[in-house]
Amino acid sequence: MDNSDAIVTPWEVRGEVDYKELIEKFGVDPLTPDIIERLRRHAGGLHVLLRRGMFFSHRELNEWIDSYEKGVKVILYTGRGPSGNTHLGHLIPWLFTKYLQDAFKCDLYFQITDDEKFLFNQELSTEQVAEYAKENLLDIIAVGFDPERTKIFTNLTYSKPLYNVAVRVAKHVTFSTAKATFGFSESSNIGMIFFPAMQAAPCFIHQYLNSEDAHVLIPCAIDQEPYWRISRDVAPKLGYRKPAGVYSKFIPGLGSGGKMSASLPDTAIFLSDTKEKAVKKVKNAFTGGQPTIREQKEKGGNPDVCVVYSYLYSLFDEDDKAVAETYASCKGGGLVCGECKERLARKVAEFLEQHRAKRERAKGYVEKFLVRE
Ligand code: TYM
Repeated sequence: MDNSDAIVTPWEVRGEVDYKELIEKFGVDPLTPDIIERLRRHAGGLHVLLRRGMFFSHRELNEWIDSYEKGVKVILYTGRGPSGNTHLGHLIPWLFTKYLQDAFKCDLYFQITDDEKFLFNQELSTEQVAEYAKENLLDIIAVGFDPERTKIFTNLTYSKPLYNVAVRVAKHVTFSTAKATFGFSESSNIGMIFFPAMQAAPCFIHQYLNSEDAHVLIPCAIDQEPYWRISRDVAPKLGYRKPAGVYSKFIPGLGSGGKMSASLPDTAIFLSDTKEKAVKKVKNAFTGGQPTIREQKEKGGNPDVCVVYSYLYSLFDEDDKAVAETYASCKGGGLVCGECKERLARKVAEFLEQHRAKRERAKGYVEKFLVRE
């Protein structure tokens, strides 16, 4: 990014991200009240992530809804890179994807990029990424996607169809474009350079396999957007519609600054964390509170910089009145950080417990969701 030192790429998100600036920089559009209203009409309600602005930008979402209204086949596509256990941040786009699938009753293609994590991470073997993919798959299924309409695949076990589309994409992308878009260098291995074509492939896989027109929408966090720039450039050359996208902000880590990231495990909530571990992490979170309770009561806290408040606001407290009260009461000094942390910890623990139960049930559905060659 230009006038701050934040960095947002598919592999690294660092610093304080200015989302307004990112909209300009990436050439995407803000999610306006009109589009949000169109989604509300189709879904019969607004997902909390939409209502509270976690999803903030898009590319041609209006056109995608137009397609749906005109009877063109619409499809969703999202994914996961299996480099470790799933954390809450990964879940953000998946929860939203489920909301969209329920609203538009459409097929979902879910890509697990085991090849990416093997190629980009010197420490990971193919066996390790396969193990993570297996674990991540249960978290994905646990989100509750429609088993009749969802196809989940890993690149290394569904390579033939994907590779057939990827070579067609790759032929239209020069090294110079890949370098400019992804920052590859002379020392990047050649697998890394080809990989963007593999992530672009599911934008067109349905059309390729079924010889059928379709309009794809990709829900993800904004870090993945560079892939869709390439996919959109190539689409007309292959005779396909350009994929649309809807992008979220990053849920922050529990420390001060930066997105939730598996590389900072103490400030990330993993879906595999025990209740005790997750509660402890919440209790250690960065807040906008004053150093002492007395000062907090006198001066009030600052919910605008508080991670605990941001979790309640973005995801964990769907009650508009209750969050507004939390905000006002924190600012006015009527609420101390301990109480707020307690509330969030309870909600997180409950959420993890429910997720764990769904994950157990997911074990019986793997074959229903997973497509192989
Ligand atoms: P990965 O595994 O890094 O991330 C999976 C999804 O989670 C989003 N994400 C976050 N969202 C909110 N807050 C956070 N702190 C946070 N951290 C990660 C990512 O944007 C992503 O949507 N290369 C991809 C895998 C992939 C993919 C896709 C993702 C393949 N095809 C299509 C999205 C759409 C990756 O490594 O994602």
